[in-house]
Amino acid sequence: MKIIVVYKSKTGFSEQYAKWIQTALNCDIIPLNQLKTLEGYDLVIYGAGLMAGKMNGLKDFKPYIQGQKTIIYATGAISKDATEIVDKIKNDNLSQFGKDVPFYYFEAGLDYDKLGFFSKKMLKMMYNSLKKKTDKTAEEIGMMEAIAHSHNYAKESDILPLIETVKQS
Ligand SMILES: Cc1cc2nc3c(=O)[nH]c(=O)nc-3n(C[C@H](O)[C@H](O)[C@H](O)COP(=O)(O)O)c2cc1C
Repeated sequence: MKIIVVYKSKTGFSEQYAKWIQTALNCDIIPLNQLKTLEGYDLVIYGAGLMAGKMNGLKDFKPYIQGQKTIIYATGAISKDATEIVDKIKNDNLSQFGKDVPFYYFEAGLDYDKLGFFSKKMLKMMYNSLKKKTDKTAEEIGMMEAIAHSHNYAKESDILPLIETVKQS
């Protein structure tokens, strides 16, 4: 089975996961902006970071899929234990692919040093609007904590369920 990992990564977290997956599967890897065709591949894994709940590049990636099996992973700053948010991320992002596409959320982190002015400003706005809210839910408090500072919780072993899914395909 010919497999490729396609990724879009602004600050390196999704790229790191793509490289871990490539090593585990000994498969091809390419950033989305260099992708020309997926012809000849049986299985395509797409990964990218989240911005306000939406995966980067998903709309640009979709037209490349021509019948190949697809697996999607998103990386973000929110805790993987925030199951309600993770379910919402899955539903919102997979609506265009169908519910049967396997989806994984990998808790990664946030790197303020690599973010541009507008991204930092957007995070600050998200943080301030959450801060102002009264009666915050546990998920909202989690989101505030996740975006307050740079952190890196990316873990290679988190890819194991995805690798298992590929091996069963
Ligand atoms: C403007 C902005 C919005 C973000 N929104 C979310 C979000 O809604 N949920 C989340 O878990 N992480 C969010 N993040 C954190 C990124 O998704 C996280 O750092 C991701 O791993 C980045 O991946 P990349 O470096 O591969 O692009 C946001 C980051 C930025 C800069």
